[in-house]
Amino acid sequence: MNEPLSLTFEDRLAINADAVERLLRRLLDERPREGEIVRPARLLAAMRHGALNGGKRLRPFLLIETARLFDVQGETVLRVAAALECVHCYSLIHDDLPSMDDDDLRRGQPTVHRAFDEATAILAGDSLLTYAFDIIAGEETELAAETRIALVRGLARAAGAGGMAGGQALDLAAERESPDEAGIVRLQAMKTGALIRFACEAGAVLGDADAADRDRLSAFGGAIGLAFQLADDLLDMTASSESMGKATGKDAAAGKATLAGLHGEDWARSQLDGLVAQAEDLLEPYGEKGTILRQAARFVAAREN
Ligand code: IPE
Ligand code: IPE
Ligand code: MG
Ligand code: MG
Ligand code: MG
Repeated sequence: MNEPLSLTFEDRLAINADAVERLLRRLLDERPREGEIVRPARLLAAMRHGALNGGKRLRPFLLIETARLFDVQGETVLRVAAALECVHCYSLIHDDLPSMDDDDLRRGQPTVHRAFDEATAILAGDSLLTYAFDIIAGEETELAAETRIALVRGLARAAGAGGMAGGQALDLAAERESPDEAGIVRLQAMKTGALIRFACEAGAVLGDADAADRDRLSAFGGAIGLAFQLADDLLDMTASSESMGKATGKDAAAGKATLAGLHGEDWARSQLDGLVAQAEDLLEPYGEKGTILRQAARFVAAREN
């Protein structure tokens, strides 16, 4: 990945996505790894269905580009990025389950529980989640012990009860008891923001950034995490299912409290502008080098799928 800096944002997004896709394809084969007995073919097929062929690969992109901001790139970074994408894909498989959002379409294809069955979807999600930690902890991902532990702990916290999964619990509760604005911001910072924030934090950790830079990148991740979910909620209100590759109009139908739903489209768009400006300001100290991440912030807010 030594491509020239003159590539456009879209080029870089596509190149990184392709690298992640190819690595995930290798990681999700049926060959048992040391200590494993057998990888059941149907389970692996369900994991591949949920993890391959589609997806913007935004979280890996942010991780890779944040590490690159600190002049670190290569196989180790890519493997941690792929691990993070495994957690994201698991979260989508479970998010779509009948007991959660009950969706039939994801990334333009039938959801995993529709293409396979519900139990297989649950297990495919479980397996992708645990595999992420296997990938980070495994020797092939060449990391110093301290970095490895920091990443494992950071990802566990971002994904768990105080992060994504906790946010999903609050999100489901929000269908019954409308939270106030602060409550919505908090649940979104957890369900969506935590993994996006981790992407930027992990990039900084892999880049061996100092504490001030790590905090700065973490705050950047926080701002674009909120922007990302705000854009998702807006798209749920305004975009077609064809362009999104998933059902839309679901939040209002479920009575789900979202900021876009609460305050309307215009307010949401001006909030998005504010969050992008905040994210861009945080990248000030990096000058030219921060360009790609500034573009990422704008992409998150202006995305059409
Ligand atoms: C969808 O995430 C779920 C949310 C957090 C809103 P993405 O929009 O990143 O989904 P893919 O990976 O591109 O399909
Ligand atoms: C899901 O939020 C966030 C996750 C943790 C997966 P949504 O339920 O709004 O995501 P979509 O719209 O189904 O992608
Ligand atoms: Mg959901
Ligand atoms: Mg959903
Ligand atoms: Mg949504």
